[in-house]
This record gives sequence, C-alpha cells and structure tokens, in this order.
Amino acid sequence: TSALRVALLGCGTVGSEVVRVLQNQGDDLAARAGARLEVVGIAVRRLDVERPGIDPALLTTDAEALVRRDDVDLVVEVIGGIEPARSLILAAFESGSSVITANKALLAEDGPTLFAAAESAGVDLYFEAAVAGAIPIIRPLSESLIGDQITQVMGIVNGTTNFILDKMHNEGASYADVLAEAQELGYAEADPTADVEGFDAAAKAAILAGIAFHTRVAAHEVYREGITGITRSDIEAAAEMGTVVKLLAICELHTQTDDAGNVTETVSARVHPALIPATHPLATVGGPYNAVFTESTGAGSLMFYGAGAGGAPTASAVLGDLVTAARNRMRGATGPGESAYTQRQVMPIGEI
Ligand code: HSE
Repeated sequence: TSALRVALLGCGTVGSEVVRVLQNQGDDLAARAGARLEVVGIAVRRLDVERPGIDPALLTTDAEALVRRDDVDLVVEVIGGIEPARSLILAAFESGSSVITANKALLAEDGPTLFAAAESAGVDLYFEAAVAGAIPIIRPLSESLIGDQITQVMGIVNGTTNFILDKMHNEGASYADVLAEAQELGYAEADPTADVEGFDAAAKAAILAGIAFHTRVAAHEVYREGITGITRSDIEAAAEMGTVVKLLAICELHTQTDDAGNVTETVSARVHPALIPATHPLATVGGPYNAVFTESTGAGSLMFYGAGAGGAPTASAVLGDLVTAARNRMRGATGPGESAYTQRQVMPIGEI
C-alpha cells in the first residue's frame, strides 16, 4: 500500500489522542484512506515533558522545518492561537500539504487568508474540530445543507462553560472548583479565560455564521459576554423560575425589504448567557456536551448534539478530516474548498 506522511503540530490533549488512534487503528484507517497515514514528525514546544506512548524520536521543536519537509503530505495543526499557527499553516500550503486544523481563534480572525492560500495551492483545509468538538457541524453546513437557505444557527458551543454551569445548577458547586475540574479533564483552552469570557464561543459563532450565511464574520464582530458574572444566586433564581442559565451562541440572517422592494440581508452573531425554560431541549444538554440547532427554509429545524470538548471526541473530528483529506489526495482531488460568498453587512455590536 502507498503511504501519506503526516506532520503533527502540537501534542497536547487532542494531538496525543490523534497519534494514539493512528497507531492503534492504523490498518483500518489505511483501508479507508487508501494509504497508510504515517506520522513523520511531531512539533512540540518542549522536549522535556513525559509523553506516554509517543515515540521521542518523532519530536522536534522546529515546527517550521517540519512543515516545510518535502516528504510531508498532510499537516495537522492542534497548537491553537494565532501565531505561530498561521505562519506554519501558510508554510504548509506553500509546500503543497493539505491542512487539518482545530484552530477556531485563527479561522475566526483570519479565515479568508487561509481559505485563499489553500485554494491557490490546490490543497485542502479542513476544520471540523474547530467548532463543537466531535459534532459534525462544519460539513453539514458547508456540504449537506449547501442547497438550502439557512436562516439561524443557535446553540451551546463551549463545553467548559456548559460543564461549569451544569455543575453549578445540579451540584451547587462553586465556579472556581468546577473550572479546575474542567481543566483537569482536558475540556478547557490553554488559557481558560477564552472559555469563561466567551471568546472561544464567539470565535465558533463567527465561523458558523460565515459558513451558514455564505459571508465572512470576524470574531471581533460577534457580541460577546461570558459567564464570569454568573453567581450562585443567579443560578438559584433561574431555577426558581423553572429555567436554567446557558451560554448561547446565536447567529441570524436578517432580511429587510425597503419601500422600493430592495432586499438587504444583514448577519448578526452573539454569545451571552441566556435563561432557557428547563423543558427546552437545550436545557438538558449537560457536562461538556454541545448542541447546535439550525433553521433553514427547506429542512426546517435540525439538531446536532454530542461531545463538544475533550481529547478523544475532538480527535475523532480531526481524524475524520485527516482520512478525508488523505482520500482526496489519493484521488488527486480536493474537497469542496470555499464556496463563493457575498460579503454581507454584519450588524454592528451596538445594534444587536
Ligand atoms: N475549550 C473548548 C470547550 C474546547 O470547552 O468547548 C473545544 O473547542
């Protein structure tokens, strides 16, 4: 069988799980991809860290040299953050590799640059793991629903804050204790401020709104409010009213027709804590789970539910992209890439 060579950038919760599955299920994945997926290097920041199950010979601190290696076909980026991730991904495209990334912050800040670079290099950029962990939502929006008109995407897209709010509701736990637990379980971002202040959910909302409404929305255009201001008494008051507090991401397409019959479409995206009736399907989404509802003209309401954070669930999405990109490569093809978009006006934050 032929082989494709994979470079991994980052070896944390998700990266190490990707390597583990590639090792343990290599034969199955090779059969599905049409080629063996061979990890040829893993870029890490520090070499002096215990990494059970990882061959130390694969480790390097020179990520730039790794992505520029001639024999690399596929690059998996799971380091997160803007730099050096952006430069490394662009370098990977330059040397003809397809990229699989879980980097929501980067996609929400500079997605258009990445999409254009992948397109001109004739390679793939897949990022299912960037939004809602294991839940397939990027491909449903960009492929399955491409023939429909989506008007709303709404849901819980941050596992850490959902885990915290859930435990505050059900166990009377304190905010600080539960945050520490979420970090230990590998749900939280490297800097959990991104979770609790809503930056992570806002980046995901920007990505979802862009794909769903065929436009571009940047993270700074998303109205954002986190959960750090939520107290025990807020939770108790919510419960007394038969409601629960959830951090929601809401993306909407607004259509206005003026007197002359001209139609203007505006997009809005927001993230904030909301009170939901305890009987609402979103109210029962607990722990690190996520749920996304879409509303579209043809399909009506669709609901996507599952694990939104954690090593194995997020690795599942990464591996799905990896096998898909490998399969494309073996056929000398690329995936859907970026479909044409119209830049729509994004509703100013003050008007949301
Ligand atoms: N920190 C993120 C979360 C991980 O809690 O949802 C998945 O993006």
